[in-house]
Amino acid sequence: MAGEGATVRVQFVCLGNICRSPLAEGVFKAQVEAAGLSERFVIESAGTGSWHVGAPPDKRMLQTAMGHGVYLTSRGRQFDYRDFEAFDHILVMDRSNLHDVLFLDRKERFSDRVKLFREFDPQPDDYQVPDPYYGGADGFEQVYRIVERTSEALLAALVAHYGLLG
Ligand code: 4NP
Repeated sequence: MAGEGATVRVQFVCLGNICRSPLAEGVFKAQVEAAGLSERFVIESAGTGSWHVGAPPDKRMLQTAMGHGVYLTSRGRQFDYRDFEAFDHILVMDRSNLHDVLFLDRKERFSDRVKLFREFDPQPDDYQVPDPYYGGADGFEQVYRIVERTSEALLAALVAHYGLLG
């Protein structure tokens, strides 16, 4: 994938697809756009669970993102086996997501496409993005800060890997 003119397909995955992965999708899209690289990427998100299929992101996540000038437009969808072929990089928010996604790939055909998102975090105090769903507003801000710096580092890594600017 992603030689001259090809696209890099990135999917962010969490549990509900209404907090962490929609934020990562929105922040990464904004950074890709700012870098003038929108045409080189397909960027989506999904949840391992099905509770919020069709739903907009959680209001608290929408408001936190909007406070940073990022508008989240995704609708909830569930991770599907076909996503293994549809995306080159499947970035999961925590180890439970990692387990659930890899469980669907029993033959381990696609396991090298699946990584913890925070493997790219330059300040990884932990390799998981904490789930803010049951907590207070400060949890959403904390998730924003983690996602913003990790997403920036992810973009730099992909730009270098695929030679996107050169
Ligand atoms: P997310 O957060 O995985 O970051 O979207 C959650 C949202 C909803 C639920 C759990 C986590 N839930 O149980 O409904």
